[in-house]
Amino acid sequence: MVYYLLVLGGEHRLGTLLVSVPFYPLRYLAFPSVKGQEWYQDDAVAQAYDDKRFSDGGKLIDRREKDAVLDAILPVADKRILEIACGTGRFTVLLADHGADVVGLDISAAMLQQGRRRARDADLEQTLDFLRGDAGRLPFPDDHFDTVVAMRFFHLASDPEAFLAEMRRVTTDQIVFDTFNRFSARSIYNWALPMGSRLYSKSEVCELLAKTDLTLEHVEDDFLAPYGLYRSIPNELATPIRRLDTALGGHPVTDHFASVSYWDTRL
Ligand SMILES: C[S@@+](CC[C@H](N)C(=O)[O-])C[C@H]1O[C@@H](n2cnc3c(N)ncnc32)[C@H](O)[C@@H]1O
Repeated sequence: MVYYLLVLGGEHRLGTLLVSVPFYPLRYLAFPSVKGQEWYQDDAVAQAYDDKRFSDGGKLIDRREKDAVLDAILPVADKRILEIACGTGRFTVLLADHGADVVGLDISAAMLQQGRRRARDADLEQTLDFLRGDAGRLPFPDDHFDTVVAMRFFHLASDPEAFLAEMRRVTTDQIVFDTFNRFSARSIYNWALPMGSRLYSKSEVCELLAKTDLTLEHVEDDFLAPYGLYRSIPNELATPIRRLDTALGGHPVTDHFASVSYWDTRL
């Protein structure tokens, strides 16, 4: 029960958790149609996005996700990269900083505004582009990019096959993305997340790759303890949990229950 409360705290600071948790199912029932695309249009959601997810123990998640992307695509100097659902520009700015020629696309003006601020703060606004658009209808010609990155997007995707096919159309070489896994601790609280969140089995993703004619180069599974737990607790507590998590992971049996998979695919 304590664990359940902690992970639900991913959307809420621990201080307000005990008050808000009982109302979660009510909110979900009241707004069943509020899904990812709409949820992130809200200014307040966009402003709180980074702080809620990537402060405290969430810093470990931020670092892990960035490592997953960089491991898959470095070196990026002069590569043309499209970041789908770039949100507040965590990866867009990182990739521009590594010398990539990068475009960040997102459907939410509010999230893009945060991204532009981040680029300005990093003094990189001249070297990257942010664009408002729908991942289902990308405003680019065929084969326009070398690489497409789409992190934390597929759990929001209503038609993953169509989205993946559209990403494939605009790239010549590589698509890197992550998925949240069905047989994981995330499933305990996933149903209650207000933006809606789809979980995948590994075989389902492999089928998607086959249907869109993509080849799996590499996949890594991680986080037996789900993101929601890490981002609810202070870094000092998250660090030993992460150490244990890492020690237990990396085996076929434990990987089966990992919360996240990082996929590196090729055309
Ligand atoms: C969980 S956030 C992830 C942001 C960023 N990739 C990150 O990892 O921090 C999901 C993002 O997907 C965007 N999004 C949802 N549906 C979209 C669509 N159809 N086309 C483009 N962006 C979309 C949302 O606006 C939001 O910014």
